[in-house]
Amino acid sequence: MVFDGLLSNNVVDPKPKVSIAHLNGLRLPAHAEYFLRVDNEQQLFEGIVWATSRDLPVTVVGEGSNTVAHPFVRGLVIQIATLGLKLLHDDGCKLTVRAAAGENWHVFVSWTIEQGLYGLENLALIPGTVGAAPVQNIGAYGVEVASRIRGLRVCDLTNGEVSNLSPQDCQFAYRDSRFKSTDGKRFIILSVDFMLDRSAESILNYPELARALVDTTPTPSNVFDAVVALRRSKLPDPEILPNVGSFFKNPSVSSEQAQHVRREWPEMPQYPTASDRVKLSAGWMIDQLGWREATGQTGIGIYSQHALVMVNHDCGHTEDVLSLAAAIVASVEAEFAITLEMEPSIIGNPTD
Ligand code: EPU
Repeated sequence: MVFDGLLSNNVVDPKPKVSIAHLNGLRLPAHAEYFLRVDNEQQLFEGIVWATSRDLPVTVVGEGSNTVAHPFVRGLVIQIATLGLKLLHDDGCKLTVRAAAGENWHVFVSWTIEQGLYGLENLALIPGTVGAAPVQNIGAYGVEVASRIRGLRVCDLTNGEVSNLSPQDCQFAYRDSRFKSTDGKRFIILSVDFMLDRSAESILNYPELARALVDTTPTPSNVFDAVVALRRSKLPDPEILPNVGSFFKNPSVSSEQAQHVRREWPEMPQYPTASDRVKLSAGWMIDQLGWREATGQTGIGIYSQHALVMVNHDCGHTEDVLSLAAAIVASVEAEFAITLEMEPSIIGNPTD
């Protein structure tokens, strides 16, 4: 148990009332009751013991790029900033690389490309950290990160046990995993093991990506470049216009429902999945209802070039984000009889 003996030797010193505006993607004004940034696992374990011995809840963030924060987050907010890459296995064709949870996702993907390794190139430029990637099973341009995860090292907050989880243990699904459930929230991800290839077929089933590479032989490097260019053309840079990427998940419906939707709205994009379910385009629905043109008085609005992305133009607050989200959900429900689900994680509690 990694917590054993830490109470008496505890050297971490969390700071009270620290702004975490830089640790939520929409840059909403928010404070942590206590805050600690950890550069190694020992500090993390000490931070957890510091909080639990004071009966304070622990909230873990990476860079907060997919997080919406309430104005006050009670307890200890720990920012995981642990770094490190380690080659675990290399048979000449296939490799397993372990990345620490605090590594920046895009920096890590760029490193795999520099090594000539396939597997993560479609996931270039996604904001956030390695440790956050499995939580919402990040996905883009035909690839979900779960397809490249061999396993994870986690620490159980409740007892200090460090263990390995298999992909099956993680219950990955579209933009979802066990780590989003009440049961899974007890795990803190320490590192992630990725399966990479020295050669592989590029995944080009996203039409715009295939078009961008039509005259070339795909390599990890030019798929990576094309994905970076595509994302830059479609999505706002969070450093310039704060956002959390897609604000809603694409809803998944039964094939019968999808047929009904196709009859009523033949233009709405539909994406069949491996199961019997069909994903519908939330961006298309929100766009049809005119939300892209809507600029509120609150500074929070919908990105002019993509209806699935909420942005903070100027000094917006959490309540503005949640009320705009509720208005969008209600309008989509009224028009399409479909209930949209928010995609980012929420930290804190409105009543604290
Ligand atoms: N569309 C509109 N109007 C809009 C936006 C989209 O009509 O304002 C329609 C268009 O027909 C477009 C279609 O929606 O062709 C799909 O749009 P896009 O290709 O941008 O994909 P998405 O379904 O909106 C998903 C992911 C993105 C990922 C892209 C590409 C989710 C929730 N979002 O978006 O992920 O980059 O596919 O694979 O699944 C993220 O999770 O933060 C994210 C950006």
